[in-house]
Amino acid sequence: MVRVRPCPEPKFGDYQCNALMALAKARKTNPRQLAGQVAAALDVPALCEVEIAGAGFLNFRLKPSSITQTLEAAARGEHLFFDKAGNGVQKPRRGVADFSSPNVAKPMHVGHIRSTILGDSLARVLRLLGHQVVTDNHIGDWGTQFGMLIVGWKRFLNRDSLAADPISEMERLYKLVTRNAASDPALLEASRQELVKLQSGHDENLQIWREMIALSQRQFDEIYARLGVRFDSALGESFYNARLKSLVDELQKLRVARESEGAIAVFFDDVPQLKDHPALVRKSDGGFNYTTTDLATLEYRLKTWRPDEIIYVTDGRQQLHFQQVFAAFDKWQSCAGGEPPPKLVHVWFGSILGEDGKPFKTRGGETVKLSDLLDEAEERAFKIVSEKNPALPDGQRREIARVIGIGAVKYADLLPNRQSDYIFSWDKMLALNGNTAPYLQYAYARIQSIFRKADSCAPRAGSAIELSTPEELALAKHLLNFGLTLEAVAEEYRPNFLCNYLYELAGKFTLFYENCPVLKAANSLRASRLELCRLTARVLKEGLNALGIETIEQM
Ligand code: ARG
Repeated sequence: MVRVRPCPEPKFGDYQCNALMALAKARKTNPRQLAGQVAAALDVPALCEVEIAGAGFLNFRLKPSSITQTLEAAARGEHLFFDKAGNGVQKPRRGVADFSSPNVAKPMHVGHIRSTILGDSLARVLRLLGHQVVTDNHIGDWGTQFGMLIVGWKRFLNRDSLAADPISEMERLYKLVTRNAASDPALLEASRQELVKLQSGHDENLQIWREMIALSQRQFDEIYARLGVRFDSALGESFYNARLKSLVDELQKLRVARESEGAIAVFFDDVPQLKDHPALVRKSDGGFNYTTTDLATLEYRLKTWRPDEIIYVTDGRQQLHFQQVFAAFDKWQSCAGGEPPPKLVHVWFGSILGEDGKPFKTRGGETVKLSDLLDEAEERAFKIVSEKNPALPDGQRREIARVIGIGAVKYADLLPNRQSDYIFSWDKMLALNGNTAPYLQYAYARIQSIFRKADSCAPRAGSAIELSTPEELALAKHLLNFGLTLEAVAEEYRPNFLCNYLYELAGKFTLFYENCPVLKAANSLRASRLELCRLTARVLKEGLNALGIETIEQM
């Protein structure tokens, strides 16, 4: 595919294609000559002027008439600057998004928040572009920790604390048993036995385990409701237990896996970066592990949803794990003669740091709980809203604070390049000026206030667009790039592209609004400028929504 992208230097044009140099090299022809042939074959005179530049760049400058026509079609509701897959040339993709995936009996922490927010936003962008996405929460509901948890539950459970805050109580039990077991071999042995009993289907242990899952799920659901995140499926690791034994047998039979020091592992002699990192699929004590479960999960997803791609959103420390899973699955499928596997992508992210540059913790050194974090965000936003708008009724200020607080936390997670660590700063993320959610939410609300002042709420649909000033033209051209931005997000799994696009949009809108009177303009110019306001508001709202961030009409 030969790509045309927004031109990095606006003085050379609006869009640019730099792919012809490489193509010419491959074909051993002169790049400028090839560019000339392509330019001559392009049938775009109504759309833009084409210019051959430099070593063989193609630059495109949009004709004003094609810009206004595109805006007018958007104003009539025919599109919002992007094609939906399925309507045009692009075929809809089927995807599975594995994100959030917290662990039972443990509080969700800031690492899970980043996975939840990034994953949700990617699913939203893909869906907005017309693709199909199944969101699947791979909850950690199985593993050796349940031995400790069940011993703790049987010996030390405080029912009142459990009723008040189930996850904290389960966390307390877990910590208590791990701490005591370090110096008490009998307790360690008891945990092992409880685990074996659970794994072999012991009634009482199963019941306790189920209760722990139900209590955790309730707490997870509260958080998801606050964040506006929904899952289509939440099967959890335990769902795949029944398949693990036969899966490992199959891998052995196919010679994908072999025994090594009592354990069973997949070796990757042919994959340079994994040569020294075989993937364990059965431990020497006979137990299966995280990798085995992920292989079974992959198999199930393929059979059930037939996806073209599966994305996994976790922190960067799981990179090796996913490289192993993908490589092992590849070997397995090619030996079994199955269909070629779908595109498997590990969408990983860096850590969240405190303002001291160290891993983000509470003042007491504990991991920060997600629910406390969201409470604090809303509380801080409430203070800001109350200072700005003391006259608004309390309920309304609370609602605004909820939208701003949650939006600020989400945006702070989405804005940085996901692979770099970022510093969590309340003041930065809640600032009304700067590249923040509140700034964009204000920009949206401000446009809505223009409509409240205009006598007719929306301009008559079908108003002609006039782009008479440089500010109007710059705003209009930026609106046109909404779809390209969404596509770039979907291609590289990077919502930060959309954050920066919206921030620039708000900036271009401000320049336009400061330089071009809207309500005081005469007739047709007024209608055209109101239409620009309306399109900007629609893109801001749709764009923020694709990031999982709400807007409010009045702030
Ligand atoms: N539960 C895991 C954790 O908290 C994340 C699971 C990610 N998904 C997967 N298919 N392995 O680290």
